[in-house]
Amino acid sequence: MLGNFSYCNPTKLYFGEDSLEYLRDELKNYGERILLVYGGGSIKKNGIYDDVMKILNESHKTVYELSGVMPNPTVEKLYEGVSIAREHQVDLILAVGGGSVCDYAKAVSVSAYCNEDPWDKYYLKMEDVDNEIIPVGCVLTMVGTGSEMNGGAVITNHETKLKIGHVFGENVFPKFSILNPVYTYTLPTYQMVAGFYDIMSHILEQYFSGSDDNTSDYIMEGLLKSLIHSSQIAVKNPQDYEARSNIMWTATWALNTLVAKGKTTDWMVHMIGQAVGAYTDATHGMTLSAVSMAYYRYIMPYALDKFKRFALNVWNVSPEGKSDETIALEGLKAMEDYMNHLGLVMNIHDLGVTDEMIEGIADATFSMNGGYKELSHDEIVGILKASM
Ligand code: NZQ
Ligand code: ZN
Repeated sequence: MLGNFSYCNPTKLYFGEDSLEYLRDELKNYGERILLVYGGGSIKKNGIYDDVMKILNESHKTVYELSGVMPNPTVEKLYEGVSIAREHQVDLILAVGGGSVCDYAKAVSVSAYCNEDPWDKYYLKMEDVDNEIIPVGCVLTMVGTGSEMNGGAVITNHETKLKIGHVFGENVFPKFSILNPVYTYTLPTYQMVAGFYDIMSHILEQYFSGSDDNTSDYIMEGLLKSLIHSSQIAVKNPQDYEARSNIMWTATWALNTLVAKGKTTDWMVHMIGQAVGAYTDATHGMTLSAVSMAYYRYIMPYALDKFKRFALNVWNVSPEGKSDETIALEGLKAMEDYMNHLGLVMNIHDLGVTDEMIEGIADATFSMNGGYKELSHDEIVGILKASM
């Protein structure tokens, strides 16, 4: 394990079919005023809203509702949440939804008592929080982002065509998260598989960095195998509890800071995907799947050993009589076949990207240097064109 690091994850998890019951205990730790944050209404259709409200009412809480958090929450919506949280001086923000709702709750929690414009401070200037933070709890209904156990909060600014994630510190992580795999059964297939690929991408973007022998890589290979196995069961039978529960747990560990330890981490698929998202407002996981194959085929020659290891350990490619390059390419082909099998979007054209947008998307992509190849603007343009 290279480098020096500290590790602490303060989020308490409650997992399983009966996990919502623990909300009662958690609520005792907070004051009376609860800001209930949710999305466009899926929780009202599947009954989760009623179950949560019942517990809130029985716990004698005063509930302020903040609904309509859209996928890829916007800066305007953030301002709305800030004014509501401030006005009612809420004691806890309870997010009930997917990554967008959890991210949004965290963004409101750090922004409510911020004296500057939060978009400028946290997203453009990337400054730390130096004001009061409202505690956040999550009831997760969509699996993929890992937002339930991390400090990420991604906000989209449509006016400036920027989608930016601020990864806040442990003081912003949810205080608790409730993970009931059954809640994910009602997800439409498109969202479900997009979430599966989001998990895979989080793992790959940490795995494909560094060249030392590192425990985190072995953990990630295990997580990938579990995900590949369970996701193929879940697309056939979305109500397979064993598969959905394994996927939910894998998603949390894929992005709760554990497997990043000792890794430089790449994150270029997310950077390109987020820029695609800023232009198209497409579903997060699909922006990643649509650019991944072009990206990985482009960087493969810069890290042939790692791509060979990926092919052998994750995709069980047989090495008999093959060159390293052939093995690595067969690994990527196996990954591409798997992605097609899940029904992922495999090009950005299908997400609404036009040739005219390519330069702008490349401009909006932040180039990071933790992976195997730092990309120039022209290289990003090349990857985007190859993703069309
Ligand atoms: O709004 P509702 O009606 O609830 O519908 C949602 C939404 O339309 C629906 N949904 C969620 N749970 C459901 C359900 N529909 C039926 N049954 C259920 N049980 O699914 C749609 C998508 O939800 P969303 O929360 O947007 O999806 P996801 O969890 O993928 O979150 C995406 C956001 O998270 C950010 C992304 O950039 C994007 O803004 N990310 C956050 C990260 C983090 N915190 O670390 C990292 C990720 O890489 C990602 O960038
Ligand atoms: Zn993601």
